Parts: sequence; C-alpha cells; structure tokens
Amino acid sequence: MRKQEELFTKDTLGKEDLISLLGLDAAGQKELFYHSGNIKEAHVGKKVYFRGLIEFSNICSKNCFYCGIRKGNSHTKRYNLSDEEILAASRFAHQEKYASLVLQSGELASPVFTQRVTRLLQKIHQETNNELRVTLSLGEQSRETYREWFDAGAHRYLLRIETSDPEFYRKLHPSDDLHCFDKRLEALHNLRDTGYQTGTGVMIGLPFQTIEQLADDLLFMRDFGIDMVGMGPYIEHEETPLYEVRHHLWPIMDRFNMALKMIACLRMLMPKINIAAATALQAIDPMGREKALKIGANVIMPNITPGIYRDNYDLYNNKPCTDENSDDCTHCLKARVGMTGNEIGFGEWGDSSFFRERTRK
Ligand code: 5AD
Ligand code: SF4
Ligand code: FES
Repeated sequence: MRKQEELFTKDTLGKEDLISLLGLDAAGQKELFYHSGNIKEAHVGKKVYFRGLIEFSNICSKNCFYCGIRKGNSHTKRYNLSDEEILAASRFAHQEKYASLVLQSGELASPVFTQRVTRLLQKIHQETNNELRVTLSLGEQSRETYREWFDAGAHRYLLRIETSDPEFYRKLHPSDDLHCFDKRLEALHNLRDTGYQTGTGVMIGLPFQTIEQLADDLLFMRDFGIDMVGMGPYIEHEETPLYEVRHHLWPIMDRFNMALKMIACLRMLMPKINIAAATALQAIDPMGREKALKIGANVIMPNITPGIYRDNYDLYNNKPCTDENSDDCTHCLKARVGMTGNEIGFGEWGDSSFFRERTRK
C-alpha cells in the first residue's frame, strides 16, 4: 500500500510506474481513481465541454483490421449526408450552445472530398456566426489539405495513432502504403505544425496488446505534447479480420477497467489537456462515459448525426444512442453530467489550457 501511495503523488511517472498503476487490482484502482479525480478537479475544474459529433459518411478507402466500416466490409450500408443535413446538424449544435463540433467520416483523400470539406467549413462558420470551434477527424491527408482546411476555419484535428508500437500497428493493418505507421506519425506532426490543436488516442484491450505497450502509449502522448486525447476500449466486430482472434481478448470488463485506468494515468501525466470520455465506454457500461468524467475526462461528444444514419456508422458492436435523435441525447447528457457532480460548459469553446500555454508567445 505504501508503495502505491508514493506512485499517486510522484512528480514524474516513468514506464515502470505506469505499468504498476495499470496493473492495479480493484481495490488499488479505486485509490487511483480517487487521486486522478482530484488532479482533474484541481487543473481543469468541474466543467465538461460538449463536442457535437457529426459522422457524415461511413465511406472509407481503408481496411483497418479492427474496424466495422472498413472498405472490405460489403455488409455495411454506406451513406453520405448531404451538405444541408450537415449544416442543419451544425445549426442545432450552435442553438444548443454546444460551442463546438466534430466532423468525422471514413478516410478519403481526393480533390473532390477536400473541396467539399473546405466548402462545408466556410458555410458552417457563415451560418453560425463564427461562434463554433470545429474539430476534424478525417484521417491522414497531405500537408496542403491540412493547411487548406485550417485556413477555412478548422481549429482542431483528431488523428488516433491507434498504438504507438510500430510493430503492433503493422499487425493491425494491411501492409501497404495506405496503412503505414510512419506516415501516420508524420501526419500528426504536420497537424501540429499547421497550427491545429492536435488530438490522438489509442484502442485499449486489443488482442495481443500488453500493459507495457499501453504504458508506452501514455508516454508517447506525453512526449509528443498532445493537446487532446480520445481513447477507449477495443470492441470486436463480427465482420472484421480481427474477429478471428477474439479468443485472445481480455474479458470485456477488463478492457473497460483498463480504459478507465489509462484515462486516470493520462490525467496524472498531463493534467491540463482535454480528455474525451469515449463513446465506446458506453457500449460496455451504460454509465461508462460518466465514470470516465469522474476520474479524469472533461470532454463528451454527443452524437448529433441525424438518427436515420447513426446505425450505419458501425465501427464496433453495440454502439450506443443509435436510435436516439439529437434532442434526446442533449437532455439525457445534461442529466447524466449533472449526476457526476460536474457541469456543462455551455457556450464555451473549452480549449485545453495545455494548448493555450503551448502557443502563448
Ligand atoms: N473498437 C473500438 N474502437 C474502434 N475504432 C475503430 N474500430 C474500433 C473497434 N472495433 C476507433 C479507431 C478509430 C476511431 C474512429 O474508431 O480508434 O480511429
Ligand atoms: Fe476507415 Fe478509420 Fe475504420 Fe480505418 S478505422 S477502416 S480509416 S473508418
Ligand atoms: Fe444519447 Fe443518452 S447520450 S441518449
């Protein structure tokens, strides 16, 4: 117990410390969450920021082995929202004082796609009085494309590294140029160089993943100096190649608890960044995201994709809120966040203080 206490209050956590923390049993985990919750409150307070999530298309050119909307899955019904549908969802977020949007889709790199996103960014800002912060989550793109979208008014970008171990990355993706670890890392650097608030994340509890790798993932995020993180448990999907090795998976609750421990450790390592309560947590435990908010996360991403499409953005099994419409999610989340003893920062952009300090001249 004494050794554990030391870990909770240590100034700098190393790899061995993180391995010990991630390996804590149920009793130890409770202590960890108590400490990480206090650190969260001391550095980012009780405010939870909303990011209205629009999953505007599930058409993807890639074939990641874990993902339900991979190109090779012919059972997925593909959709692509119209510009007007995207704009309507953006106006909804603005009216509801979400202050912030995330535009997400499968990964496509083409001039038509690039120009469409540029046009959408311009229209969104026109129609919402320049009052929304916009995050993009559209995968790897060229430096020029990142620049074009930044100039059109995108402020933040999420690009998960998925795992920081290049060998393991290779096992999770086809071995071709489209799925190259070095390119992904380069894209992350390009995003930061362009001026974006840069976000990344990993999946937790992948088959064959080790605690050592997860500890390295945390150190990767710290050493990169990432501004925001969204990470959650891996959840298998029947129509993916990784499903074949599902008997190597940790039990689902172990993956869930590990995801919470990862969030807690990251909050201790990087007290001032934004950490999202990943939706995948809720697919396992109905209160999963709320648990994450208590122990370290400070961002939540209500899904505001029009209801009829939600079912088809099927990254993993049992994705929550696919039947709801946006109004239901807003009300539901207000109540849920209140229950955690936190409050929603309506009308606030909620940039991380880590980013503000990093960019202060
Ligand atoms: N389980 C959990 N997360 C997944 N993602 C893709 N497939 C799965 C899955 N089966 C995550 C990846 C990707 C993000 C859009 O969704 O981390 O970056
Ligand atoms: Fe496409 Fe992203 Fe799924 Fe990979 S994880 S197949 S890039 S949507
Ligand atoms: Fe979507 Fe509760 S958050 S219905």
